[in-house]
Amino acid sequence: MADKKQIVVGALIYPNGAHDASWLVPGAQGNASNDIGYYQRMAQLCERGKLDLFFIADTPAARTDDLKAWSRSPDPAFMNVFDPLLLQTAVAGATKHIGLGATVSTSFAEPYTVARQFATLDHISNGRAGWNVVTTANDYAARNYGLDNLPPHGERYARAEEFVDVVTGLWDTWEDDAFIYDTETVRAFVPEKFHALKHEGDFYKVNGGLNLSRPPQGYPVILQAGSSETGKELAARTAEVVFGSAASLDLAKEFSRDLKGRMAKFGRSPDELKILSGITVVVGETEEDARKTLASWQELIHPDVFVAQLGRDLETDLSDLPLDEPVPAERVPSVSNFHKTYFDEIVGLIKEGLTLRQIAGRYNRAKATFCGSAKQVADHMEQWLEEEACDGFMIPFPVLPGTLEDFVDQVVPELQRRGIYKMDYVEGTLRDNLGLTRPANRYAAGTEKRTAKAS
Ligand SMILES: Cc1cc2nc3c(=O)[nH]c(=O)nc-3n(C[C@H](O)[C@H](O)[C@H](O)COP(=O)(O)O)c2cc1C
Repeated sequence: MADKKQIVVGALIYPNGAHDASWLVPGAQGNASNDIGYYQRMAQLCERGKLDLFFIADTPAARTDDLKAWSRSPDPAFMNVFDPLLLQTAVAGATKHIGLGATVSTSFAEPYTVARQFATLDHISNGRAGWNVVTTANDYAARNYGLDNLPPHGERYARAEEFVDVVTGLWDTWEDDAFIYDTETVRAFVPEKFHALKHEGDFYKVNGGLNLSRPPQGYPVILQAGSSETGKELAARTAEVVFGSAASLDLAKEFSRDLKGRMAKFGRSPDELKILSGITVVVGETEEDARKTLASWQELIHPDVFVAQLGRDLETDLSDLPLDEPVPAERVPSVSNFHKTYFDEIVGLIKEGLTLRQIAGRYNRAKATFCGSAKQVADHMEQWLEEEACDGFMIPFPVLPGTLEDFVDQVVPELQRRGIYKMDYVEGTLRDNLGLTRPANRYAAGTEKRTAKAS
């Protein structure tokens, strides 16, 4: 039993939950997004359930148009949120074991700053930091950083690739044993163990070293979620945890085979990458009970909100369309520049001849929904693990804290009984808990650069 593969579970935390009506569910805390105590309590609850990762998504922008629709939507996640890295620093102090994942975009930051901030979080949390590398998928953010629109998809990913290389190069500035603080010889560090980076690429020029010792994990864990061709290539080369978007078991298996199959050409083995499938989980006494609960939340979503969301993800304005008539196929734009998976899912539903309201009821942003008793949810999870659709799950808990409590108190014990979920954390870092090796410093004797490009 001890040899069974263990499910990795991450919690994607939005204030009040990921469901569009979470803030309207009785008992919700209106100002949750501005209350660090709230996040700390959610992280402690995750720790009670031995979850691996407490994860905060981010886009560095408020929405500037369509404010009437936004004002009805939950999404403090866009309009009123903390900076994720600063948030995780405060969560680090209130937790002991759980990994702390924060999103920082490679399209709008400088590698030196990002390397320094994540190295700092890794030190502060004793090796629990994870960086979600995103290229960002909307123009609101671009406009905050001197651009009118996002650079094209390919350019964003080319920049991301170089960005990650510079960051890991900076994390290797100091060999692990560089700082000795030897009062006898009067040496704080060994000068030979300092290695300035001399990087000059298409997008970045960095000639210097990080002013912080090597992070406890060597490198904080690299997380990623791109699902385009370029996104998958970047993930295959650099990511250690990938959030997969797949609405069904078959799609998840295909995604996993595809992504893990790309790793060999970068000199990596499939177990150096954990794929966490995004799933919505609602636990009830019975499946019918769970579905009723989810339906009651769906009804709370204002039509302005789902019409705007579908329009954004389809990258076109749908607000003139009637809610209860099929969406005309000619309204589908010819190409997608933002979230291709979401775009394709909506196109599929339009092709079925559904109305806007019906599409809103079915559209789940490329996530499978596991609704049922704790045993049924555990059955689904076990099946996905056994059939190698993923290594675990990234769960955007729909309504907090309730759906997280149900998972921790009911599903986790069921998974533990089956021997596929840890009874406790191992002492150590996020890497140790995920079973990921600690990257050697590229300059230390006998080691090679880990992120070599495929030839
Ligand atoms: C679980 C999950 C979390 C994500 N978090 C973020 C995020 O915080 N910020 C962001 O800009 N994109 C986020 N994304 C989107 C992806 O990182 C990526 O930008 C998007 O899928 C477009 O990339 P692609 O064209 O390669 O698919 C997330 C996706 C998933 C599935």
